[in-house]
Amino acid sequence: DKGNYRHFMAKEIHEQPEVVGHTLAHYVDFAAERVVLPDLPFDIRTVQRVTIAACGTAYYAGLTGKYWFERFARLPVEVEIASELRYGDAPFTPGNLSVFVSQSGETADTLATLRHAKANGQHVVSVVNVPTSTIARESDVVMPTLAGPEIGVASTKAFTCQLVVLACLAIAAGRARGNLSEDDERRLVRALIEVPRHMTAALALEPEVEKLARDIAKSRDVLYLGRGTSFPLALEGALKLKEISYIHAEGYAAGELKHGPIALIDETIPVIVIAPHDRVFEKTVSNMQEVAARGGKIILLTDPQGVAEAAVESLATLVLPHMPASVTPMVYAVPVQMLAYHAAVIMGTDVDQPRNLAKSVTVE
Ligand code: M6R
Repeated sequence: DKGNYRHFMAKEIHEQPEVVGHTLAHYVDFAAERVVLPDLPFDIRTVQRVTIAACGTAYYAGLTGKYWFERFARLPVEVEIASELRYGDAPFTPGNLSVFVSQSGETADTLATLRHAKANGQHVVSVVNVPTSTIARESDVVMPTLAGPEIGVASTKAFTCQLVVLACLAIAAGRARGNLSEDDERRLVRALIEVPRHMTAALALEPEVEKLARDIAKSRDVLYLGRGTSFPLALEGALKLKEISYIHAEGYAAGELKHGPIALIDETIPVIVIAPHDRVFEKTVSNMQEVAARGGKIILLTDPQGVAEAAVESLATLVLPHMPASVTPMVYAVPVQMLAYHAAVIMGTDVDQPRNLAKSVTVE
C-alpha cells in the first residue's frame, strides 16, 4: 500500500525517521545510552581484520561502515563487491570477521561470498532486512535492519537502517576492544538517537529539492563529490540517480577530482557536493572552488556553519541541521534520495520498477 504517496519510493523515503527509530531501539539502550548487541559466538577482541561484502547500495553502506570500524574500533577493514570477492584470491585468516550486508538476504553473489568466507573459517555476521532470508539463515549472527518491507527497486530506507546497524556494531567493537570509553559510547549513542529528528528536518527540504531536480532532469551527466563518509554517499547518490532517472552520474572522492573527472566540468554539468562541516570540510571546499572556476553548477549540501564558511558561489545550497560527523551519512542520504526521486518523476520513468532492474538479484 502506497498510502498517500505516488510511489513506494516516496513512501519509503518518508518512512525513514520512523524505521531508523525502530532499528535504533533494537540496538540501543536509550536510557543507559549504550549499544546492546545480540550475543556474539566469538570474541570480537581477537578479530584482527574485518571484511565487508555486499552489492550495490548495500556495498556503499559497507564502505561507510569501514570509516566507523577504523575510527571507533581501530580495526582494519576491507570492503569488497561480493561478485569480486567471490572469484578473487583474497586470503582469509581463520578467526576473522566477515560482515555481509543485504536488504533482501537473497542476492546470489553476496550469498555465494558468505559461503566462501565461511568455508575459509570466518565468523559470519549478516546485516539483513529480511530475517527469514537465506543469508540470514546461513550466518553465525544476524543483525536485522528493521526497515520493514522495501518495495521500490531503489533502496532507500534499508540503506539508512544498514548504516545504523553498522555504526552500532562498530561502536560495540570499539568498546570491547578498549578503544572507546564509556563516555565516548554515550556521546556516539546520543548522536544516533538524534538521527530520526534530523531526518525529519531533512525531509522538510523537499520543496527545495524538487526545484533543484528540474535542473538535474535537464542534464546529461551529473557528478557527486564527497570526502570521508560523504564519499560513499556520493557513490550512492550517483547510483540512485542512474537507476531511476537514467541520467548518467558518477560519484567521486572529492580529492580525486583533479586526477581526471575535472576534465568533464563545464557549465552544463551539475556537481552535487556533499560537505557537512566536518574535519575534511575545508578540503572539500577547495575542490568546490576548482569546480566553480570552471563554470560547474554546484549544489552544496551542508549545515549552517558550512554555509558560513564555504566561500564559493554555488548554484544552490541545501542546509541541513548541525550534527556530529558520526551521523551525517544517515541524514544526508535523505536529500540525496529525494533529488534522484524528483528527477526521475520529472523524467517520467517508472520510479518503482526502473527498466532492466530487479529488486532482488538472485542470479549472478
Ligand atoms: O538485496 P540486496 O541489498 O543484497 O541488494 C543489493 C543490490 O542489488 C541493491 O542494493 C541495488 O543496488 C539497489 N537497486 C540499489 O538501489
